Amino acid sequence: MTGPAAGSIAFEERYGGPAAVLAYDGARAVVALQGAQVLSYEQPGLGELLWLSPMAALGTGKAVRGGIPVCWPWFGPHPQDGSHPAHGLVRARPWPVSATRADTKGARISFALTAGDLAGPFWPHTASVTLDVELSNALTVSITTRNEGTAPLTLTQALHTYLRISDIDGVRVAGLEDVPFIDQLDPGELKREQPRVHITREVDRIYQDQPGRVTLIDLPAARRITIAKTGSTSSVLWNPWIEKSARLGDMGENGYRRMVCIETANAGHDAVTLRPGARHTLVARISGERL
Ligand code: BG6
Repeated sequence: MTGPAAGSIAFEERYGGPAAVLAYDGARAVVALQGAQVLSYEQPGLGELLWLSPMAALGTGKAVRGGIPVCWPWFGPHPQDGSHPAHGLVRARPWPVSATRADTKGARISFALTAGDLAGPFWPHTASVTLDVELSNALTVSITTRNEGTAPLTLTQALHTYLRISDIDGVRVAGLEDVPFIDQLDPGELKREQPRVHITREVDRIYQDQPGRVTLIDLPAARRITIAKTGSTSSVLWNPWIEKSARLGDMGENGYRRMVCIETANAGHDAVTLRPGARHTLVARISGERL
């Protein structure tokens, strides 16, 4: 007789840098210490759910393209100063591990950056941030910010999830029908689209007033991936398509056909303001199913 499944965590070298490999009941996740970035999530019977650039390399000073980069404490360009790095301060830096746990419920790793770790010219605030990655029958990523300063703090952020797909022509995105979005390629009035999204060109949208789950339906792969969330009323949908991929330089050949970003966010009108002492947690729970 076999007992209940037990989780495990091992530290290994991956893509040229240290990473934690979480395993539980046939599922596996790889989390780089650089950026506390999930690089891989395999669910039993479904294979890899995340897209990672074939050029992925840790320790280059640049964020890795793929997996789940963490955009914090601002999403996209800095709101006041375009000379600051895009997508915040933490996606290419090492995150100290603050705790690990592996038991019959799963495997979990936690990372923490203190206000002292984060202080610097781009961030004149006093806040700490923790990121937890938990592997059980789904992958759950949570990011918690605590305002440790004496003034209110406003932040935007995203768990910038690159989902792996069979081919862009075969996928549809459900859960965003008739939801108002900011079109970052054509800013102005909010737009809406009625049907499930079929991506046939560059797409860069911040969906607003969207607290529910988003599902990527991949018909050729006969699977769907659902991202459920809390602490968020915005989701970003992004695919760079052909020309932007060429400009980015790290998408690999036809990489744009094999990925869609569905980012669990606090972005656009969903910026979060924390009063002194307050905290906010953003959670994304990713799980796949056979169709
Ligand atoms: C998305 C943004 O979240 O990230 C896009 O909406 C951006 O505008 C994309 O191009 C990738 O950003 P980066 O900094 O990783 O190239």
